Amino acid sequence: MKSFNDQIKKRRTFGIISHPDAGKTTLTEKLLLFGGAIQEAGAVKSNKIKKSATSDFMEIERQRGISVATSVLAFLYKDKKINILDTPGHKDFAEDTFRTLTAVDSVIVVIDVAKGVEAQTEKLVEVCRMRNIPIIVFINKLDREGKDAFDLLDELEQKLGLSVTPLSFPIGMGYDFKGIYNIYEKNINLFSGNSKKNIEETIAFDDINNPELDTILGNKAAQNLRTDLDLAMGVYPDFDKEAYLAGKQHPVFFGSALNNFGVRELLDCFIEIAPSPRAKKAEERMVEATEKNMTGFVFKIHANMDPKHRDRLAFVKVVSGTFERNKPYLHVRQDKKLKFSSPNAFFAEKKEIVDISYPGDIVGLHDTGNFKIGDTLTEGEELHYKGIPSFSPEHFRYINNADPMKSKQLYKGIDQLMDEGVAQLFTLEMNGRKVIGTVGALQFEVIQYRLEHEYGAKCTYDNFPVYKACWVDPEDPKNDEFAEFQRIKQKFLALDKQGQSVFLADSQFSLQMTQQKYPSVKLHFVSEFE
Ligand code: G4P
Repeated sequence: MKSFNDQIKKRRTFGIISHPDAGKTTLTEKLLLFGGAIQEAGAVKSNKIKKSATSDFMEIERQRGISVATSVLAFLYKDKKINILDTPGHKDFAEDTFRTLTAVDSVIVVIDVAKGVEAQTEKLVEVCRMRNIPIIVFINKLDREGKDAFDLLDELEQKLGLSVTPLSFPIGMGYDFKGIYNIYEKNINLFSGNSKKNIEETIAFDDINNPELDTILGNKAAQNLRTDLDLAMGVYPDFDKEAYLAGKQHPVFFGSALNNFGVRELLDCFIEIAPSPRAKKAEERMVEATEKNMTGFVFKIHANMDPKHRDRLAFVKVVSGTFERNKPYLHVRQDKKLKFSSPNAFFAEKKEIVDISYPGDIVGLHDTGNFKIGDTLTEGEELHYKGIPSFSPEHFRYINNADPMKSKQLYKGIDQLMDEGVAQLFTLEMNGRKVIGTVGALQFEVIQYRLEHEYGAKCTYDNFPVYKACWVDPEDPKNDEFAEFQRIKQKFLALDKQGQSVFLADSQFSLQMTQQKYPSVKLHFVSEFE
């Protein structure tokens, strides 16, 4: 039996983030192969929603079903328990990804060698950097022609603000791709293009000046590699584990996920350097993973696929202590004790009932409407985990009841969908009209469809041109400036679901003017601020 502390040390809970199509799904699948968690490639279904599927509701439903199964993928590798948390790459679901990032202890960022840093990666990495989440970068698709390795490393620094240090280096690329020199392990892995091979044989090279290198790679490639490595060693600092763990240095690996090449190197290094579950900040205090009392928080809620069973699955990240089946826990927001007779754990692509889960693990709890995102569970302590903020939505529409006989159903549906974090609801202070804000246009269709199929309610939308929602934070709620702000801007003020005041700016210009006119009224794009 492993001790409690050993259980914590063996866990690695992380997310893989990328711009769609960079290779996140392929990499995930290859990682699972190493854990023996799946037998063949192709078993991890991509849960990306292609553009063409925008109005194909069945597709959306199907995708939602798939993403329940792949929300958490766990496997054992070299005695480490690896928990991969899925993060949707589609930009309309970015908020889902931001929330999932509150539950990871580190991330791997996948970059397409030909496309370099893409828009979605920039946004996601920014969130990770803000939270000092340790990041490893995997540059993928080396079997294709792409950008020069140094240019890519530069791009990572310039566009993502990372302080990189390569831990492997490509030998050639595309047609001339010969393999990878592993700086971390000091060996060479030759590219065979055979994706079936699980473990590639490597050739140890402590000294790259060894003439043996010319025999293996050919003179030109060997010489190029020596020059490249010389330059890389000169420009980039040595790997420093502490700096990586503090989110201040970012190791980079190269490879080809599709060919399962360079993936083993990534995984072996990852389990060695990536953090085990870390302490987490609650409003009241820091909570160490090693504390005996269970604490955890809900970071994701997934609706049941079957409309007849409206129960949902709430995903709880265990932060400290052990989560045990049938033990009562305090639902802090509702101030009530709840027991769970069938908590789910996730293994490979399956979920199964577990008796005990440890810090770093994700537990799936069946829920009939008790939970919302951000809720904390404890053994009795009044604790509130921080860091699941809402961001300003990008799209806003009035929502109208299209079937007056079903208004109860409509409001219940809206309420529950908002708790799931599908979108945000704002109520205009002036007239009580309800406005839905989403990250992507796709969500409006999802909401309409789900209201009808799961709650039997119908809705329509009206346009409401809003540029940004800003959470209002007056320096002094009693001063005249704030009173004037409230009076003049009355038409644009709303309450979010938590009852926080929000200013709905209709243009960038009016936002700037408002900020200038009322400097003591701070406007934030994020719902949580210090
Ligand atoms: P995502 O989850 O980040 O969106 O990307 P995904 O893994 O689905 O990969 C996107 C496409 O890139 C897939 O091709 C996949 O096969 C390909 N790919 C992934 N890794 C590599 C690699 O190392 N080399 C090359 N050449 N291609 C790679 P697709 O045609 O869009 O899909 P599929 O029909 O192959 O599934």
